[in-house]
Amino acid sequence: MSLKNVRLEVMKFLEKDVEALIQKYLIPIDTIWQPADFLPNSEGLTFFEEIQEIRELSKELPYDFWVVLVGDMITEEALPTYESWLMDVEGVDQVGNPNGWSKWVKHWTAEENRHGDVLNKYLYLSGRVNMREIEKTTQYLISDGFDIGTDRDPYKNFVYTSFQELATYISHNRVAKIAKKAGNKRLGKMCQIISGDEMRHHNAYAEFVDRIFKVDPSQMMMAFYYMMKQKITMPAHFLRESGDKISTAFEEFSNTAQRIGVYTSTDYVDILQKLITRWEIDKLSNLTDEAEKARDYLMKLPKRMYRLAERIKIPENSYQFKWVEPATLK
Ligand SMILES: [Fe+2]
Ligand SMILES: [Fe+2]
Repeated sequence: MSLKNVRLEVMKFLEKDVEALIQKYLIPIDTIWQPADFLPNSEGLTFFEEIQEIRELSKELPYDFWVVLVGDMITEEALPTYESWLMDVEGVDQVGNPNGWSKWVKHWTAEENRHGDVLNKYLYLSGRVNMREIEKTTQYLISDGFDIGTDRDPYKNFVYTSFQELATYISHNRVAKIAKKAGNKRLGKMCQIISGDEMRHHNAYAEFVDRIFKVDPSQMMMAFYYMMKQKITMPAHFLRESGDKISTAFEEFSNTAQRIGVYTSTDYVDILQKLITRWEIDKLSNLTDEAEKARDYLMKLPKRMYRLAERIKIPENSYQFKWVEPATLK
């Protein structure tokens, strides 16, 4: 059987558990948090006072912080790109079998959609950012799409999502900590709860990979190897500001995140190490020669990458984005 057909078989085989995985990893809509839980109620009497408070507290947070929060929000707002990508993965079928993997994708998307929603509304109320510029970047990013190098391969895609959910967990969690430290409880709680969702999603995708390792270990190993060798591309790698070319804002956005310690190159390697440990890469048996070699490569990779990460130098000064006005530089 061709590799593609084996993958389809494996996806079919695992599909019978999708319902149980949804129950295990996603939260029913009527009980999960909603953006309104963290935002001033516009029907309420204290609406304007609460906005005033948000705007006052926002002044306590530095320029780079806003850039990162905006970039994180735009990354979340590009959700249509992720949903359409995942719907196109081999074994995901929204017409032929709407109760299978496509059900997972839809339910996951519905949960994720709250992240961009709550961050967008908060940023709008904060008075610290240029919403029109942000909106243009978001529209650009969605229309530019992405190419994360996973092809339609479910194995590669689940490595990608396992990695990426953990990366967003780290990023939202650190933003929460900075906000709390600056006395901004509301924003702290908001980003903390988003990071909780990301961790739950990470655990789900990591379990999908676990299950694939049980039935097709060599090919799963090759997919993990392939993804790490070419490096995980961030979903917002095509980020641009208005008037600029595709991808031109991404590097400065990631420098900014690195400068304030929200997401660093060391975090990247930490995630890789976590995945290796979580999937017990060292303990897998019955591998082909090729997969054994891939395992060796993966086992040695974190050490090599930590050395490289230490050497990376990040510019000390903030980069001026159109998203956050110069007048608010602190
Ligand atoms: Fe998210
Ligand atoms: Fe996520």
